[in-house]
Amino acid sequence: MAAMGQYRNIVILTGAGVSAESGIDTFRAGTDGQPSLWEQHDVEDVATPEGFARDPELVQRFYDMRRAAIQTKLPNPAHDALARLDAAWGGDLLIVTQNVDDLHERAGARRVLHMHGEHLKAWCTACDVRSPWRGSLADYPPCPACQARSLRPDVVWFGEMPYEMNRIYAALRRADLFVSIGTSGAVYPAAGFVRDARELGAHTLELNLERSQGSHLFHESRLGPASQTVPSWVDEVLAGA
Ligand code: OAD
Repeated sequence: MAAMGQYRNIVILTGAGVSAESGIDTFRAGTDGQPSLWEQHDVEDVATPEGFARDPELVQRFYDMRRAAIQTKLPNPAHDALARLDAAWGGDLLIVTQNVDDLHERAGARRVLHMHGEHLKAWCTACDVRSPWRGSLADYPPCPACQARSLRPDVVWFGEMPYEMNRIYAALRRADLFVSIGTSGAVYPAAGFVRDARELGAHTLELNLERSQGSHLFHESRLGPASQTVPSWVDEVLAGA
C-alpha cells in the first residue's frame, strides 16, 4: 500500500494540457505555434445547442473528426503516472477530467469522471440512453437502444450542465489535496473547484505549462510540461513527501 504522507483524499482536475503531448489540440493556448481548437473553429457554431440546432451536419462532422482523431493518439507519461497513482493510492482519489478523450482510461486509470462527457459515447435525445460509439454520427445512424435517429455527441456544450456535479462536490468536501493539471482555468464550474477545495481546507497545487488564469488561487504552482511535472509529483506523493 502506498505511503500516505500528510494526505489521504485526493481530487485531481485535468484539462487539455494533460493530453497536449499526446497530440490533441488544446482549446485556447496553442502549443508549438499551432493554432488552438477555438482559434480554428467558432465555439458558437460547434459547441453550443444553438449551433447544433442551426447546422447539425456541421457539428456532427466536427465531432466525427475529433472522435476519429483521438483513436489514433496514445496516452503520454502524465496519463501513465496518474494511472499509477490511482492503482497505488489507498485513500479516496477522483480524477475529474474536462477532457472528452479516453487517454486516462487507456493508461489504466479507473477512478475517472468525465464532467464534460466523452467522444466515444453517443447520447440519444429520444430515449436518453448513452451508447459506446466509435464511428460516424453524421449519417444519422439509429440508436442501439430505441432505433430513433436522434444521436448526438455525448459532449457537454456551452450552456449545458456538466455531468455529476454532486459527486464532484462530495469528493471536494472530503479532499485534503486538490491538484489541477493542464487547464487554463477559463471555464466554470471547473475553474471554481480550487476556491471550493481551498475553502474546505485542502492543500491546492497547480501543474501547468504556464501560470493559468486562477494561478494565484493555488497554494503552490509548478510550471512545465505535464509529461515531466506529473510523474515527478506522483513519485513524491507516493513516497509520502
Ligand atoms: P485550455 O486549452 O483552455 O487550457 C489548456 C491549458 O493547458 C493551458 O493553460 C496551457 O498552458 C496548458 N498546457 C498546454 N500544454 C501543456 C503541457 N504539455 N503540459 C501542461 N500544461 C499544458 O483547456 P481546458 O482548460 O481543458 O469545454 O479547457 C476547459 C474547457 O474549455 C474544455 O473542457 C472545453 C473548452 O471549451 C467544453 O467543451 C465544454
